[in-house]
Amino acid sequence: MHFQWYPGHMTKAKRMMQENIKLIDLVIELVDARLPVSSRNPDIDELGKNKARLILLNKADLAEEKWNDAWAEYFKKKGYSVVKVNSKRGGGIKSIQGVIQEACKEKIERDRKRGILNRPVRAMVVGIPNVGKSTFINALAGKACAKTGNKPGVTKGKQWIRLNKNVELLDTPGILWPKFEDQTVGLRLAFIGSIKDEILNTEELGGELIRFLVQSYPGVLQEKYDVSESQDIYACLEEIAKNRHCLVRGSELDMEKAARLLLDDFRNGRIGRITLEFPQDYEETDGE
Ligand code: G4P
Repeated sequence: MHFQWYPGHMTKAKRMMQENIKLIDLVIELVDARLPVSSRNPDIDELGKNKARLILLNKADLAEEKWNDAWAEYFKKKGYSVVKVNSKRGGGIKSIQGVIQEACKEKIERDRKRGILNRPVRAMVVGIPNVGKSTFINALAGKACAKTGNKPGVTKGKQWIRLNKNVELLDTPGILWPKFEDQTVGLRLAFIGSIKDEILNTEELGGELIRFLVQSYPGVLQEKYDVSESQDIYACLEEIAKNRHCLVRGSELDMEKAARLLLDDFRNGRIGRITLEFPQDYEETDGE
């Protein structure tokens, strides 16, 4: 499979983030719980060095719970604070305030020693496009927290959302694009829809998802679409097309439509909670 890549305005976004990061104490990094490593941009470790770090496994509702826990452990071992979150429904949001204080306790202590009391922790949300940054900010800030930017006349400079007396959040999240050298990472990002479908062949992508599911989640396709999994991936896609009446010109099987249906079902959690990558795949390569 061949991926095309459009850098576009990425450089500008990164420059803005480098500027913003100077103003903050804590980086709140959202990753997709279904692929917590592939949905990161490795530059964040360099950009966020010397800052307190919190990783949120967002969309935890779409990933398998036992792997969410395993991934939380994986990142904790590396020194990050970690929370499993479902920003869409508010899951995990309540615990964030406490975790922020904990993650920033060294900074709070440093301030205290210098006689600076009650200076709020300043935080910034970062992550790849579509990982849920805006949804998370809304869930955390709630309706009660008006953005300063909403007030007429207050549009210049940085906009902070005051969460409470202890925490302020920069209202513009930092966008970093995922990085991938190998095809497997690109493929996983395409499964969750992080790489636009238009630059990939939908049918091929659907086929690859079938390959992954048959191997790592045997039985789920059979259960969902009443198809046989003991055949080649395109025969399986054909069966999905047949069983779901994906047809062109009334009779021919529409494989692309079937692939889109499958990808859509997967992305919306209708096939169940599916994790795409596992900590043990990374533990071996860490520290090289
Ligand atoms: P971004 O700012 O990082 O680009 O992401 P954004 O908040 O716009 O969220 C991208 C999509 O992910 C949205 O769906 C949003 O609802 C969904 N989302 C965010 N957090 C979660 C989560 O924890 N769980 C689940 N299941 N979904 C989440 P959308 O399809 O663009 O819109 P809609 O379906 O909400 O209408």
